[in-house]
Amino acid sequence: MADLLLTALGMGWPVLLFLVCLLGYFWFGIPEPEKKRRAVFKTFIGIIAAVMAFIAIANYKVNFFGESRLLPVSLVMITALAFMMGLYFSNVSALLKIGGFMFLVAAGLSGYGNWLPQVEGGFPPPEVKLQFDAMTKEQLADEGEKIIFGGIGQSKVQGAIGKGQCPLCHGFNEGFLSERAPNLFGIPERSKQRLEDPRYHKGKPGDRDTVEKESFAGAGTAQTVQEYISESHACPSCYVVEGFGLKGSNDKESQMPKIHKPPISLTLGELAAVDTWLYVREGKEPPSYDEIVKAYEKFIPEAERPKPQEDKPAGAGGALMADGSEPVAEIFAKAQCVTCHTIPGIPGAAGTIGPKLVEKTNAPARLRDPAYKGTAKSVREYITESVIAPSAFVVKGFPDNTMPKVFGQKLSAGALNKIVDYLSQLEEGKAPPKI
Ligand code: HEC
Ligand code: HEC
Repeated sequence: MADLLLTALGMGWPVLLFLVCLLGYFWFGIPEPEKKRRAVFKTFIGIIAAVMAFIAIANYKVNFFGESRLLPVSLVMITALAFMMGLYFSNVSALLKIGGFMFLVAAGLSGYGNWLPQVEGGFPPPEVKLQFDAMTKEQLADEGEKIIFGGIGQSKVQGAIGKGQCPLCHGFNEGFLSERAPNLFGIPERSKQRLEDPRYHKGKPGDRDTVEKESFAGAGTAQTVQEYISESHACPSCYVVEGFGLKGSNDKESQMPKIHKPPISLTLGELAAVDTWLYVREGKEPPSYDEIVKAYEKFIPEAERPKPQEDKPAGAGGALMADGSEPVAEIFAKAQCVTCHTIPGIPGAAGTIGPKLVEKTNAPARLRDPAYKGTAKSVREYITESVIAPSAFVVKGFPDNTMPKVFGQKLSAGALNKIVDYLSQLEEGKAPPKI
């Protein structure tokens, strides 16, 4: 309120000055006492009216562009102004009074609307849940791009990754090499062929030679393109694209995590957004939101469907993979390190795309390597550098640009610290520390 007054005065001072001068002029310039008193009185009222007019206007602006709920105050001020003006212009005073009364009514109404509910019920909860079901296809596709890549337009950015984590494994651009998982360009078209692949066993899940024949008992197989995509997310091992199975599983088990399960845990709405993007970005007409959700309901039983989160992750695409409050094993799982690395002592960490992370043994050897051009001086520094800038030194026999370069942004300092603590204790041939 105080700064509001200042703004008003700041804007109003020339008028004020003028009115004060006028006051002086009347005081000294009009000889008859009766006339003098009336002129001074009117000017005085004029000054007050001018101040109020400016406060009202300044406040009005704030009301529409800011958070302030002082609209009724503005309106009451305008009412008072109208009545004051009536004193000046006696020939239109009735009109001004009616106008003033209307502003008073408006003040009452907006006061009721603005203040009462808040006073009684507190502030309304901030809008956090995204209403996927109320979005247009374009909006859904934008949300999908955010989930996959971390932001709108990020699909063009090398290394961009969102909470869906798909780019850890999948290429998305036409013609891009994608060794760990099929390139998802053209997936709507390709899904038709997958359904006809004899290894898919459309309609006959019992004939499948995979570790999971069906998403759940009675779910059956996909019949449509969208169902194929939904099943790929909900039950990756139900059908494994040839050559992409878990090493040694003979394509009976997929490396892809179930996307609706932790740590990724996409809701059906989020999955619908992801899928919509897959169609829209190729210029294809996506199925409706309801059709997509129905396809997921076929493969994800009610009890397994993640609930929409109440709390919003910090900033669109800024969501951390791990905030550091988790036990270290969970951090490795959430950041998908386990997919590419073998990490002794961490359940499920049996990946072979990157080196085994016995860093108490490895790091000193890397630092001694004449080819090492990084800036690390200690084991801890080497691990930190390897995680946030994987290309600073590329371990011989392993590919460059394969380890994602996002961990500097996607892991909290606390999470990174736990990773470094743990890895720096791992020694080749020794038992891992207890966790
Ligand atoms: C850890 C690696 C990994 C992650 C993360 C991952 N996938 Fe996959 N995905 C795979 C692999 C490997 C396959 C092929 C084996 C199979 O059929 O399950 C696959 C298969 C698929 C298929 C079927 C492809 C085809 O050509 O038939 C789709 C669709 C798919 N993934 C979508 C996604 C989406 C969308 C995400 C992110 C929400 C994602 N995946 C995350 C590894 C991954
Ligand atoms: C998509 C696969 C992939 C993922 C996911 C991945 N890495 Fe890597 N990582 C690699 C590859 C490949 C190398 C070897 C090439 C290089 O040095 O950049 C590597 C190298 C490393 C090294 C250096 C190892 C050494 O002995 O010198 C460390 C440390 C490391 N990764 C830690 C991590 C951690 C921690 C995570 C999870 C936060 C992670 N990586 C996630 C693929 C991956």
